[in-house]
Amino acid sequence: MSRISVVGTGYVGLVTGACFADLGNHVTCIDIDESKVKLLRGGGIPIYEPGLRELVDKSARAGRLSFTTSYSEGLAGTEFVFIAVNTPPGPSGEADMTFARSAARSIAEHLHAPATVVNKSTMPIGTGDSFASVLTRLGTVAAPVVSNPEFLREGSAIADFQHPDRVVLGADDRAAAERVAQLYARLDAPILITDLRTAEMIKYASNAFLATKISFINEMASICERLGADVKEVARGMGLDARIGPAFLDAGVGYGGSCFPKDVQALAHMAALGGCHPQLLRAVIEINASARRAVILKLRTALGQLEDRTIGILGLAFKPNTDDLREAAAVEIIRLLRREGADVRAYDPAAMTKAAELLPDVQFCADPYETADRADALVLLTEWNEFKHLDLDRIRRAMSGSVFVDGRNVYDPSEMTGLGFDYFGVGRPHVSNDRVNRLTRTA
Ligand code: UDX
Repeated sequence: MSRISVVGTGYVGLVTGACFADLGNHVTCIDIDESKVKLLRGGGIPIYEPGLRELVDKSARAGRLSFTTSYSEGLAGTEFVFIAVNTPPGPSGEADMTFARSAARSIAEHLHAPATVVNKSTMPIGTGDSFASVLTRLGTVAAPVVSNPEFLREGSAIADFQHPDRVVLGADDRAAAERVAQLYARLDAPILITDLRTAEMIKYASNAFLATKISFINEMASICERLGADVKEVARGMGLDARIGPAFLDAGVGYGGSCFPKDVQALAHMAALGGCHPQLLRAVIEINASARRAVILKLRTALGQLEDRTIGILGLAFKPNTDDLREAAAVEIIRLLRREGADVRAYDPAAMTKAAELLPDVQFCADPYETADRADALVLLTEWNEFKHLDLDRIRRAMSGSVFVDGRNVYDPSEMTGLGFDYFGVGRPHVSNDRVNRLTRTA
């Protein structure tokens, strides 16, 4: 058993702390947000992550997991300090390191016995070096830095921690990396030990590649719409090639969340600073932006101008099984609709509380059927399971129009057309899409 401190109790920090505690370690989570620490101490969970409440509760009751706002309390006797604070995008796409640098300084100030500092959050290449110099300059004890990037997906973060495809560790002090490797020994996953910058680069390259797969299939979807092919079948045919694989080939309104948009932007920014021309990364970003605009184009094609039209939105979170709205396609699309004077109704199983703060002029509904009530068009943007078995007859009768834009290709085009919908998928050959294509060709 090891004594571990985790700085930051967000999507990464809280999952990391709870999972290390579940492995039998003694974990103290530190967060400067008093209300968050108070909530956690009272058994509350500040984020929506399936299974997290039970995991935190079990270790907290066993006395292996605690929460504090005090660095001196949180670092007392610790052997490992994981930094899991957020590194949001700055104005020109660079990672904003304000919180991370502040954490490094606080660790240097309050660490009074040697410990290994581990960067868990996605940090720009070179951060490990700069943290090492902060810790050496301001600290009083040995605190070697190890990069240990997280590969957690929201909604499946606990499973991703407990069954990782690989553990990546980067350090200039190999013994420090070996010590961190021991924490993962029971997970029976391949452990790759390399240098600091390479470990940091593995994280960015992995996320950038996954985002590239998504933008690739979305570009294929645009081509399929014009050439009359079905992108879902194309993805299936591609995915059977072991070199390609089926994952991350779902065409739709593109990627959102706190990672892909931020990490691809940050990598492109770092590349440009290094004198490179990240043309592929820039194309990935642009294709993702146009995947969202395509929803507006389809609505305009079906309805003409959107002013005073009522548009129902099914799904707000950036993906299912989370309440996270960061960089969610729905938020941007709703803002575009409001700018065109459309009235927007919306429903999401988990994200409406947070959405109400972001989208004050949206009518939030109790379920998909209320959302469809008197709507000229319905737009599905998050593929929650709840949306996969709707009573489509009831939906159609509730609507005043017949337009259904399926931003995640949940439904079958011919079935929807047969039910009387004017159905628009993404990359699906259908009469509605043909009309879109004819109009865009003449646009
Ligand atoms: C991602 C990475 O998967 C994870 O390894 C990393 O640690 C953090 O970033 P996350 O952002 O939580 O995880 O979600 P993910 O499941 O990867 O989906 C990201 C976005 O891509 C979502 O908006 C999703 O809707 C979209 N997506 C995903 C697609 O549009 N098509 C796909 O085929 C897959």
